[in-house]
Amino acid sequence: MDTKDRILKKLIQNKGKFISGEQISDKIGVSRTAVWKHILKLKEEGYEIQSVNKLGYQLINYGDIYDKSAIVSKLNTKILGQNLFFFDIIDSTNDELKRMAASGACEGTVVVAKSQTSGRGRRGRRWQSNADDGIYMSILLRPELLPKDVQCITLAASSAVCKVLKKYVENNLGIKWPNDILIDNKKVCGILTEMSAEPDKVQAIILGIGLNVWNRTEDFNDELKDTATSLHINTEKEIIRSTLVAQILKEFEDLYLHFIEKGSTAKFMNIWRAFSLTIGRDIIVYQGDKVWQAKALDVIDNGQLLVETPDGQRKTILSGEISIRDFDDSRVKDCAARQ
Ligand code: BTN
Repeated sequence: MDTKDRILKKLIQNKGKFISGEQISDKIGVSRTAVWKHILKLKEEGYEIQSVNKLGYQLINYGDIYDKSAIVSKLNTKILGQNLFFFDIIDSTNDELKRMAASGACEGTVVVAKSQTSGRGRRGRRWQSNADDGIYMSILLRPELLPKDVQCITLAASSAVCKVLKKYVENNLGIKWPNDILIDNKKVCGILTEMSAEPDKVQAIILGIGLNVWNRTEDFNDELKDTATSLHINTEKEIIRSTLVAQILKEFEDLYLHFIEKGSTAKFMNIWRAFSLTIGRDIIVYQGDKVWQAKALDVIDNGQLLVETPDGQRKTILSGEISIRDFDDSRVKDCAARQ
């Protein structure tokens, strides 16, 4: 990273407050004049930086301009996002897209929001969706698919997101079955797949992706502080949310179309397995009131997790929640206590 980028990173880390030229020069190890010159260059490049006597510098807009045109100008897809709606604020992109789907919106319609007032996670949890911290987007799909195979779409999506994040994060990036994307064992992205279906036919799938991008550790609420992370915390690379959205849509479209057109899960399963943090691990399975231990053997083609229990029985799990034993000792103890 060159000096200018290191100064930019310091300004980003101090989002919402001033940092003095002296503090920057001490931290980066360059003169205050050099700091000032680099700040001028950053301003020329479009970063909005406020300079106030005795207070120092504050980044007002960190170059990550995020609106519909920024995304659309980078899109390289055939169907996903060709019909794209961008909101500064919305209740939930999944809910908005559900309303659109009910009024006949077409396959590939995408809803993106800068913030959500009722962002939803799996199992009725809230998804923290503060303005400008993350990517909150939902994709409408209308494939000819049996409801039992919908989990495949989620696996394809988590594979696509990982492929994109790999450009930013070299190490410790992976997927916990079925769809939690973790960096250093902390969650950076979650996927909420919802559908409307008849018994033997899917009508609409709403695939919601929540990616923590600019959050600093202190931006996460107390419940999440120890378990959540963001891309910004884990990369030195420049982050532009519109680029990320366009990249995720492109990677996902490739995997999705291959799956639908060829009827083969191989392409996304290879990626999913390569990023899997679950296969081969001792896990704890949480299904309703039941909590049990097993070893994760594989993910089979419609997305079910194949496990072996300590007494040697093999089972498949379609839904539920798992934790990986060596990641989280406290939950192992909790599990032991509940058994
Ligand atoms: C999870 O619990 O891991 C899934 C989180 C999914 C959050 C995303 S943000 C965009 C979309 N809109 C929502 O309300 N939820 C999903």
